[in-house]
Amino acid sequence: MKTKVLVTRVIPQKALNLLQEKAEVTINLEDRAMTEEEIIGHLPGKLALLSMGSDPISGKILKAGGDLKIVANYAVGFNNIDLAAATRLKIAVTNTPDVLTDTTADLTFALILGVARRLAEGDRFVREGKWVEWKPSLLMGSDVHGKTLGIVGLGRIGSAVAERALGFRMKILYTDVRPADRSVEEGCRARFVPLRDLLRESDFVSLHVPLTPETTHLIGREELRLMKKSAFLINASRGPVVDERALVEALRSGTIAGAGLDVFEKEPAVTPEFFSMENTLLLPHVGSATLETREKMALVAVRNILAVLAGETTPNILNPEIYRT
Ligand code: DGY
Repeated sequence: MKTKVLVTRVIPQKALNLLQEKAEVTINLEDRAMTEEEIIGHLPGKLALLSMGSDPISGKILKAGGDLKIVANYAVGFNNIDLAAATRLKIAVTNTPDVLTDTTADLTFALILGVARRLAEGDRFVREGKWVEWKPSLLMGSDVHGKTLGIVGLGRIGSAVAERALGFRMKILYTDVRPADRSVEEGCRARFVPLRDLLRESDFVSLHVPLTPETTHLIGREELRLMKKSAFLINASRGPVVDERALVEALRSGTIAGAGLDVFEKEPAVTPEFFSMENTLLLPHVGSATLETREKMALVAVRNILAVLAGETTPNILNPEIYRT
């Protein structure tokens, strides 16, 4: 008898085929997220759950899944999963790192360029038929090349953003819980500085930290006040890293020049004040959303499931301690 797996949303076909070769798959074919009750209702008998980064996988769900051996998150971030509860229940939790690094870094750079050069605003201007003549002052933006980029979190995605910035001859500062290896620093030509210095000196501050209790509201009123009036805040990590109310105030009062946001504090809800602010570029959490990368992420998630169910190891286990006791 094939093992049973629950998949909470439609995933790329190639990965689904691979999973279906080895397992009996129950998949939510509706174009909406499953509720907690629906997930719980489908869990009996399932050995694996393939979840989206947007599915809150609570302790209640994990306890209800009496047969669960693995939750394979279709995301690199895993703040949606109660990892401590999973560990207590000896359920493996995996994510999909690496394959989305470049795609997310590309999107981060699109936010940097988009907000500095007012791309969305220009697009709206043309579509609305407002473009009647070339004007020397039309949609003046800020240069990106040669400016200072401050990277908060020089991990995989942060370093990939730094690599791109080198092509724009940017000066790169970074901060992190500890300085990166010399080879990483040299590869990105990035200099370690404390957060306060990074905020004071950067023209673009780009956030690349995981969401943890320590990084929640890492950027609030005081941090925004340290930034240059001409600077931009870029967030393609997790919404709650920024205190959104403080950001609204900072954008309104001219404390900073603008923000490029792919993530929001209570997404998909977006603080409505942003809608009328031309100095914000708003995207619906699409950092890894390319056909190529989503297929790779799905294949990694499926391979994580197959490996764990076969008693093999996968480098993507987030709680390897479950095998040690
Ligand atoms: C990720 O992979 O963490 C993306 O943000 C999708 O949730």
